[in-house]
Amino acid sequence: MYYIILVILLALILYYFWTCRCQLDYVTNDLNTSIINRCSIIKNKMFYYTPYLFTGLLQAIIASKVQDVDPKLKFVREYVDFGKDFGCFALDWGSYEGKISEKEAKITEGKPLVVVLRLNLIQLTFSLNFARINLIGGLIYLDPKRQILPQIGNFHHVEDFRRVLEYIAKQHNKSTIYAIGHSFGSNTLLKYLGMCGSNGTDPLIKVAVSVGNPYDFQLGMRYLEDSLSDSYIRKHRQRIAREKIDQYLPIPKHINLDLNKVQQAKTSLEFDTYFTKPIFGAPSVDFHYLSIQCANYMEFVKIPVFFLGSFDDPVINNRAVYPRDAILKNPNLISLMTQVGGHISWFEGVLHPKRWYYKPVLQYLNAIHQLL
Ligand SMILES: *[C@@H]1O[C@H](CO)[C@@H](O)[C@H](O)[C@H]1NC(C)=O
Ligand SMILES: *[C@@H]1O[C@H](CO)[C@@H](O)[C@H](O)[C@H]1NC(C)=O
Ligand SMILES: *[C@@H]1O[C@H](CO)[C@@H](O)[C@H](O)[C@H]1NC(C)=O
Repeated sequence: MYYIILVILLALILYYFWTCRCQLDYVTNDLNTSIINRCSIIKNKMFYYTPYLFTGLLQAIIASKVQDVDPKLKFVREYVDFGKDFGCFALDWGSYEGKISEKEAKITEGKPLVVVLRLNLIQLTFSLNFARINLIGGLIYLDPKRQILPQIGNFHHVEDFRRVLEYIAKQHNKSTIYAIGHSFGSNTLLKYLGMCGSNGTDPLIKVAVSVGNPYDFQLGMRYLEDSLSDSYIRKHRQRIAREKIDQYLPIPKHINLDLNKVQQAKTSLEFDTYFTKPIFGAPSVDFHYLSIQCANYMEFVKIPVFFLGSFDDPVINNRAVYPRDAILKNPNLISLMTQVGGHISWFEGVLHPKRWYYKPVLQYLNAIHQLL
């Protein structure tokens, strides 16, 4: 009896350490090796997750309970109107003093400005989170929300992002811009970087980080179908469509929207068929997925990007969509994949689990900041 318990315990411990191991993919060269040598977490390829949160679903449950935003951070909202084609954005600049004081502006002048795109489940409420991280320790943060329907026929989702970037770059012309994208936002970011790389446009961003990137919607949505996460995501999107649709009215007549069908959709794929496809004027739902996903743009990215993802992400089936080959073909890309971590959860610690992912992200940004 005693031995059996001991053997089970030993097996559990082995299992734990085995699943803490991460997969690191990159093209070996001098620069990338020296970046990785400066980032102990990336180099050691270990993520010691909270032992009782050993699956993506458990990590997600904690993620919905824990608010780990710096409580000292205050937001200052600024509205920027880009006209009827691109809409109005509300940028929430984060600040420690309630407003960007002259003192704070002076301290951060010339420091890298970090633009953060946060995740989003529904494209209608396309929103971005902006942060300005002073790499020495300070943090400034903004959160713009798109107010109007996207330009019909323009489902590329990157032109409005470019407008916002141009606006910020003009205001902070002494700073270099870094960007961190989360989930849907990281997909937008990578698609944008790939498009700039393929047509030779300056992306205005020097370094980027992609966290929890869904990469391939066409494939990913099929894997998501009928899963527990899908029903959660679908319900969330239906609720937003129900509650927020008024903000976007009147919907032009040529957009054929059957709101009953939208509410009766049983999967995200169906929701996209009845809602997203007509809204974006796409001929088919797959056409829409192909036109927004970044998977086909990885080879064109010309600036350094660090990717962080998890194989147990309940929303993104990384066993299917993770573009390892593309990452191993482009020397600008470094990717760290954990086995446990869920969808942008990555909790560590036993008594008070806290998010871990900003540690490798900041290590990477600091390392590359010193090297570039
Ligand atoms: C940078 O911005 C300041 C004001 O924000 C402006 O006066 C200056 O001309 C700009 N410099 C360049 C090179 O655009
Ligand atoms: C290149 O791509 C970027 C990003 O989508 C876009 O903003 C820009 O207008 C494109 N430039 C040309 C010349 O097509
Ligand atoms: C890896 O090295 C290449 C070439 O030396 C460089 O252009 C690229 O930015 C590096 N990748 C990352 C992710 O830093």
